[in-house]
Amino acid sequence: MPEESPLIKSLRAAVDAAPDDVPLRLHLAQLLLEAGIVQDAISQVAAALQREPGNAEAQALIARAVAPPVTAPAAAPPAPAPAEAPAPAPAEAPAEAPRYDWKQAEDELSDVIPPRFVETEGKEETPETEAPLSAHGDDDPAGVSAWDVETSGLSLSDVGGMEQVKERLEAAFLAPMRNPELRKLYGKSLRGGLLMYGPPGCGKTYIARAVAGELGARFMTVSITDVLDMWIGNAERNLRELFETARRNAPCVVFLDELDALGAKRSQIRHTGLRTTVNQLLTELDGVDAQANEGLFVLAATNHPWDVDPALRRPGRLDRTVLVLPPDEPARESILRHHLEGRPVARIDLRKLVKRTDGFSGADLRHLCESAAERALMDSVRTGQARMIETDDLLGALTQLRPSTGPWFNSARSVAQFANEGGQYDELLAYLKKKRML
Ligand SMILES: Nc1ncnc2c1ncn2[C@@H]1O[C@H](COP(=O)(O)OP(=O)(O)OP(=O)(O)O)[C@@H](O)[C@H]1O
Ligand SMILES: [Mg+2]
Repeated sequence: MPEESPLIKSLRAAVDAAPDDVPLRLHLAQLLLEAGIVQDAISQVAAALQREPGNAEAQALIARAVAPPVTAPAAAPPAPAPAEAPAPAPAEAPAEAPRYDWKQAEDELSDVIPPRFVETEGKEETPETEAPLSAHGDDDPAGVSAWDVETSGLSLSDVGGMEQVKERLEAAFLAPMRNPELRKLYGKSLRGGLLMYGPPGCGKTYIARAVAGELGARFMTVSITDVLDMWIGNAERNLRELFETARRNAPCVVFLDELDALGAKRSQIRHTGLRTTVNQLLTELDGVDAQANEGLFVLAATNHPWDVDPALRRPGRLDRTVLVLPPDEPARESILRHHLEGRPVARIDLRKLVKRTDGFSGADLRHLCESAAERALMDSVRTGQARMIETDDLLGALTQLRPSTGPWFNSARSVAQFANEGGQYDELLAYLKKKRML
């Protein structure tokens, strides 16, 4: 056991005196780790995570702790000491928790540490070392302005699977926006709207953010709930301003999230402002004159297309629909991989998990990964032995979970069967048939 410095000793005392001080505890953990006192470091991180689940610094420390000791000063350097090679990245000073290159470590130390994922089929690796998306997860923006030029760092390549949806988006506006010649050729027929619908948590907002990432300033997003909550009485003026800005920036995409909020509240008669809001939206969608909306694309999302005012869905407005289904196999693999990326995992059999999570939404899969991490962590705390998250943790967590999309399909079924005017829910019917839900 390496010798403890006086600093560590006094930090220990400080942590004992203030057990809930997470930054202090993590500082101690880091010093312990640097001194090669790994087990203790892990216990401290575990205690910190118990108080503050999801703390990014703690997770980085755990990843470092369970990684092979590349910079531990006490350890005598074994044979090749591969991670010391300074060749490709001279700027990489190991001062503060450098992001660990798992792929490289797997390759170089495959006989020492277990692989993170086991591939049952030959699949190409995508060692994404970008900042984890969960860091800016789903938390609300400050809500200062209700419409925003998107600045998400996502791109369509972050969206796993969902090829059909991507193709529809590509054809509906990504291709025309990229090709001014095409736009000229087709003139004002290149406008109009696309309505994404489907069960909750399956990526409608996420894919819109990815499109935003592709388009930068040419994407404006507005949540209808925000419009209604923030601008009682002002909704019309602000909608008008939003569309005017969009027209000035054309070609431009306006994204209206949670469109059903307009419909859902329509029945509440006391909310009298709503009718005029819908009317204003209709006016904007039609454009003041024939040319006004050229190059203006409207993308909308809703869980309940049947609650959306039918007038909004007439030709020239949100006349096309695309069904966003629970993630298919490639999407599930990419979602699982993404949510396990920043955690200490070993030997995860993604194929097996993908097979067993049919019908799970993206949000369900995230929840699954969190539950599995919790299991492994609790186990580590109980036994005092830190261990990695393994396939069994995920399978164990899976027994406690059911896909959350069931109720949505139950209510969607009757609409698709009995209110399928003009074949607008054909896609949904086909899926229900395929999944034997009819
Ligand atoms: N294809 C995908 N690739 C990667 N992650 C995905 C994918 N689909 C969904 N996710 C994940 O699932 C989470 C939930 O998705 P999102 O919030 O976009 O669902 P939604 O359809 O907008 O739900 P709601 O109807 O409740 O608004 C996302 O934050 C994302 O992490
Ligand atoms: Mg959403």
